[in-house]
Amino acid sequence: MVAATETHVKSRLAGDTTGHDWWHVDRVRRIGMRIASAEGADIEVVELATLLHDISDHKFNGGDYERGPREAAEFLIRAGEPATVAMAVASAIRSTSWSGRDQDGPTLSLEAQVVQDADRLDAIGAIGIGRAFAYGGYAQQPMHDPCALDPSTANTVIAHFYEKLLRVKDRLHTQTAKQIATARDAYMRNFLQRFYEEWNADDSP
Ligand code: ADP
Ligand code: NI
Repeated sequence: MVAATETHVKSRLAGDTTGHDWWHVDRVRRIGMRIASAEGADIEVVELATLLHDISDHKFNGGDYERGPREAAEFLIRAGEPATVAMAVASAIRSTSWSGRDQDGPTLSLEAQVVQDADRLDAIGAIGIGRAFAYGGYAQQPMHDPCALDPSTANTVIAHFYEKLLRVKDRLHTQTAKQIATARDAYMRNFLQRFYEEWNADDSP
């Protein structure tokens, strides 16, 4: 089932340059399974949900938040997975959207919490920095605008750190993900400090 799902996901994501390529999915799967085993979550649901979590992203779909979860469940049922597993996977995927309806209530299943944490962890740290600049190129955003008065509202890659990336650490559910986030967050803050120092020709040799 995992191999069939991998093949399906690879064909759906082939050629993506917006930060949702196969290797994003593979990283979210691996960190997700690490969190799942530490937290005692259902490993099968987490592996299938992380694999399928980006097959139909709402941003490229006219804002349809239901399509991804629905397509994931349809795929699993067609492939012979029990409806209970398909439903658990769909509900975990529904929770991964950052900008979608607020899903942060205590109603989230443990597996949904793990999938959301895993996806968010891939947006921070060294990988998160890389993805943010790759996305900025795709969206034709400037890296930084030192004239923007409020760095959190400028439409730049650096602004995205303040809007989202530096907040991820405090929006995680599981203890395991929070521990992993600590070093990733510190690395990003260090990066930003260096970025400003070099920008201002202020870096020490
Ligand atoms: P995911 O689906 O992995 O949770 P998103 O779809 O929100 O993430 O974004 C994909 C990647 O692009 C992430 O690493 C995210 O931080 C980055 N990104 C999204 N929006 C912006 C933006 N406006 N500027 C820079 N990077 C962005
Ligand atoms: Ni993702």
